[in-house]
Amino acid sequence: KHPMMKVLALSLGVASGSAMAENLMEKANGMFEPIPKYPPVIDGNELTQPKVELGKMLFFEPRLSSSHLISCNTCHNVGLGGDDELPTSIGHGWQKGPRNSPTVFNAVFNAAQFWDGRAADLAEQAKGPVQAGVEMSSSPDRVVSTLKSMPEYIERFKSAFPGQDDPVSFDNMAIAIEAYEATLITPEAPFDQYLRGNADALNDKEKEGLALFMDRGCAACHSGVNLGGQNYYPFGLVTRPGAEILPEGDKGRFAVTETASDEYVFRASPLRNIELTAPYFHSGAVWSLEEAVAVMGTAQLGTELEDDEVKSIVAFLKTLTGNVPEVTYPMLPPSTAKTPKPVD
Ligand code: HEM
Ligand code: HEM
Repeated sequence: KHPMMKVLALSLGVASGSAMAENLMEKANGMFEPIPKYPPVIDGNELTQPKVELGKMLFFEPRLSSSHLISCNTCHNVGLGGDDELPTSIGHGWQKGPRNSPTVFNAVFNAAQFWDGRAADLAEQAKGPVQAGVEMSSSPDRVVSTLKSMPEYIERFKSAFPGQDDPVSFDNMAIAIEAYEATLITPEAPFDQYLRGNADALNDKEKEGLALFMDRGCAACHSGVNLGGQNYYPFGLVTRPGAEILPEGDKGRFAVTETASDEYVFRASPLRNIELTAPYFHSGAVWSLEEAVAVMGTAQLGTELEDDEVKSIVAFLKTLTGNVPEVTYPMLPPSTAKTPKPVD
């Protein structure tokens, strides 16, 4: 062959290679969004410094539980990826809850809250665990008298909610916690850098995984800023996994809507920082990310993914690990004679 032809073929090869690369980035930008660098604006809940600081104290405050042992951070440990690394959470009186604890990191971006969408937003959510018998087993009255027994909390609620007659309330507790949670975001993952135009932020294997994630159909359910957390689907859309992964007793969204078609319907999980939050699924039954991906292949897509495909997808999923917030442990005010005593 004429040497010129070879050069032409080579340069064409390069050209189409980089065109493909541009397509991949463009396609990805059509389906996903980067985590913003700063906390988002929440309707009706301005993130002032006194409010966020108070919310942080409350997030770490074990005296919101009746045992004085359990705080939000017990099950959403900010040093462990924002969850508890247990199959299902352990709460009041060492009771085992029914579901795996989702990470609080980036939870502010989830349109759909909880595995089954019970709560509308983070403020509504925060009131649940405080009262749940298997979680913190307290009551709004007990929480308010606990907080009002410590002068520092009274002052801090006043600065966080200026101008209110009775700022130390159960609702304001939840609003302050929501404000703190909005700051628990993890920007600057390699994938975010890629979405913002840095083609070298992912290596070839990770790009292959991204292409598979989109082409095989994962992104149909796991899209948007959190690659999930937006909507609900039957777990076992094509093939229902066995009871060890999908226990029969938990019918998911059915319990919320009581509509037969919502049996075993769960939220497509947000996949940000997924390498930090094993074990997987609402049952927490699967410890390896490779296995979780393979289960998704058969259960949701009706395909047995090849080992190599699973490996590439997992390599891609690991590029979703961002900068976790560095958290200094807050000093909490000492109990006083008026503080309710812990109960079993
Ligand atoms: C779910 C926050 C206490 C276990 C959630 C979610 C948030 C949250 C934001 C939803 C995340 C998402 O949908 O992506 C809090 C706060 C707490 C608290 C602010 C303190 C007031 C606890 C405690 C436990 C716990 C003490 C364990 C005993 C769970 C579990 C879920 C969950 C198992 C999933 C529930 C389901 O979907 O049915 N929490 N949490 N949380 N949390 Fe907590
Ligand atoms: C959960 C990845 C396809 C809906 C998960 C989890 C992973 C994952 C890793 C576990 C997350 C966690 O426990 O925190 C993938 C991959 C896919 C894929 C790599 C493509 C091969 C799909 C599709 C749908 C879907 C197509 C919707 C039809 C769900 C649902 C859950 C989930 C509902 C929650 C299951 C539960 O109740 O525990 N996905 N997914 N996924 N995914 Fe996918």
